[in-house]
Amino acid sequence: MNILHISGSPKGERSDSQKLAAGFLERYRLLHPGHAIRHINVFDGRTNPDFGAIHAIHKLAPLFHEPQTDEGKQAWVATERLIEDFDGADKILLSCPMWNYSVPWAMKRYLDNLMQPGRTFGFDATTRQHVGLLRDRPVQFILTRSSTASDDGQDFQLPYLLHIFRSLGVQDIRVVSACATTKPSAQERQAYLDSFFLQLKDAAATF
Ligand SMILES: Cc1cc2nc3c(=O)[nH]c(=O)nc-3n(C[C@H](O)[C@H](O)[C@H](O)COP(=O)(O)O)c2cc1C
Repeated sequence: MNILHISGSPKGERSDSQKLAAGFLERYRLLHPGHAIRHINVFDGRTNPDFGAIHAIHKLAPLFHEPQTDEGKQAWVATERLIEDFDGADKILLSCPMWNYSVPWAMKRYLDNLMQPGRTFGFDATTRQHVGLLRDRPVQFILTRSSTASDDGQDFQLPYLLHIFRSLGVQDIRVVSACATTKPSAQERQAYLDSFFLQLKDAAATF
């Protein structure tokens, strides 16, 4: 079993979402000592390639019946590597903070690499819906925010992530969401994170 942890905070050891993910993984490792767990951070400057003009033109060239250039093909190698890395995982843990009601830009760039027509999703012209081309697998989201609640209409993080993963064909998604991480003292912040212990333990047991 091969688990991929994609983390979306640049804060390393100080990251709330990474601390919660560590609690989840500690429990998961106890239950499944033989499972391989890989970690990538979307801010690491290595695993999350740039996605700019060359990529955008290359991406839509087949839809416009335009030839794909050597430059575009070369740029696409890193995108394809990212897709293969994602698709090779049997289970995916995604830990991510909210930034301005949505996901940090580096997570958006990771998802821009991942969402490729004809490769990771198709389009049903009758229903006008995207159809996922990747296999379903368990996905655990561990999300953090200072104050934005999940049900107040300002949350563009969880609905966006759910929509992207479902568009890829991944339906088995579980969510732990910590919506009030900002507290005046370090003790209070830690106590708040600790309050997710049982939820993370249960989530790890069923992952
Ligand atoms: C650039 C930036 C934007 C943020 N935007 C929001 C927001 O829109 N809503 C919210 O509730 N919290 C917001 N926060 C707070 C973080 O989501 C919160 O501190 C979270 O726990 C950070 O997780 P991390 O430590 O894993 O990065 C923002 C934080 C930063 C740095």
